[in-house]
Amino acid sequence: MVYTAKKWIYARAFGGEPKLDNFCLEEEIMPDIREGEFLAKAEYLSVDPYMRIYILSYPIGSVMIGGQIAQVLESKHPEFPVGAYVFGQFGWRTYAICNPTGIATRKPYVLPDFGVLPRSLGIGTLGTVGNSAYFGFLEVCRPKSGETVVVSGAAGAVGNIVGQIGKIKGCKVIGLAGSDVKCRWLEEIGFDYAINYKTTDIGEELLKAAPEGVDCYFDNVGGEISAIVKKQMRHFGRIACCGTISMYNGSPIQVEDPQRDFVSKQLVQEGFSVHRWTDRWFEGIEQNLKWINEGNLKYRETITEGFENMPLAFIEMMKGGNIGKAIVAVE
Ligand SMILES: NC(=O)c1ccc[n+]([C@@H]2O[C@H](COP(=O)([O-])OP(=O)(O)OC[C@H]3O[C@@H](n4cnc5c(N)ncnc54)[C@H](OP(=O)(O)O)[C@@H]3O)[C@@H](O)[C@H]2O)c1
Repeated sequence: MVYTAKKWIYARAFGGEPKLDNFCLEEEIMPDIREGEFLAKAEYLSVDPYMRIYILSYPIGSVMIGGQIAQVLESKHPEFPVGAYVFGQFGWRTYAICNPTGIATRKPYVLPDFGVLPRSLGIGTLGTVGNSAYFGFLEVCRPKSGETVVVSGAAGAVGNIVGQIGKIKGCKVIGLAGSDVKCRWLEEIGFDYAINYKTTDIGEELLKAAPEGVDCYFDNVGGEISAIVKKQMRHFGRIACCGTISMYNGSPIQVEDPQRDFVSKQLVQEGFSVHRWTDRWFEGIEQNLKWINEGNLKYRETITEGFENMPLAFIEMMKGGNIGKAIVAVE
C-alpha cells in the first residue's frame, strides 16, 4: 500500500504574529517501513504555543513540529502493533514513519485506555498538557489547602487544569483570562474568581479577590501580567514558570524589575519542562483520568476540522481563539 502524506512546512520566517504565508502545504510519498519502524496515520493534531518559538531553531523548509494522536497502519515494531492508537511527536503531517528506538524525551507511546472518553484527550488533559498542569503545579508550586493560587492563561489548555487541581487541593483559585466568555467558563468549572486581564486593572481586581495576597502563581504568560501578580505575592510564595506566551511573538514588553520583591519576600521561582517527569508520565495521566471520571476535572476542547486548517488553528490559538485545548481533527 502506498501512502501519500500531506505535511505543513515552516516556509517563511515568523515576524510577529504567525500568518498563513508562514506555512506551505506539501505532499510526500511514504517509503516502505524498515525493521524497528511503524507507519501511523494522524487522527488529531495538537497546536501549541511552544511551536511559535521552538521552530525557530529548525531551518526554513522543515516540517512544523508538534504532537498528534495517530493509528498504526503498518508495523515492524512489537510495541506498536497495527491498529494501536499512539501519541507521537510526528509534526504537522497526516502520515508518519517512526523508529522509537533511541528517542529519549517526547517518545511515542501507545495511548492508555481512556474508557469512554475521547482519544483526543491524549493531546490535552490526558497528555503533555495535563501533565504540565499536574506536575508543574503540584511539584513546583506545592499548594497547600487554604492557600491562594493565581493562574495566568487560565482558560487555556494547561491553565484550566491547574485551577481545577487547585480546587481539588482545597485552594482559593483566581484565573486571569482574555475575555468575559472565558472568565464565565472558569467560574462555571469552579474557579473562585476570574479576571479579564484585557478590560480590568489586574492589580486592583487581584487585591479585591485576594486581599491576603497570593501563595502560588502558575505563570503561563510572563511579561507585564506576571510582574503585577508577583507584586501581590505573600512571603515564601512559590511561582511555577510554565511559559511566557506574551513574549512569543517578539517585541518584549518593558516591565518594572520584579527582582526586588523576590529578595524582600524570599520568593521561590522555578522554571520547568514537563519532560522532567518523563519517568512518572503515566502517573499524571492516570490521576487526571481518575479526576475526570470522578467529575472533579472538566475538560474542554476547541476543535478545528481538517488538516488543511492547521495554520489557521495555530494562528487563532496564539490570538486567544481557543477555550481549553486547541486541536485539529484530520477528518
Ligand atoms: N513548561 C512546559 O513544559 C510547558 C508545557 C506546555 C505548555 N507550556 C506553556 O504554557 C503556556 C500555555 O500553553 P497552552 O498549551 O495551555 O496554551 P493555551 O493557553 O491553550 O493557548 C494560548 C493562550 O494564551 C493566551 N495568550 C495569547 N497571547 C497572550 C498575551 N500576550 N498575554 C496573555 N495571554 C496570552 C490566549 O488566551 P487569552 O484569551 O486568555 O489571552 C491563548 O488562548 C504557554 O506559555 C506554553 O508555552 C509549557
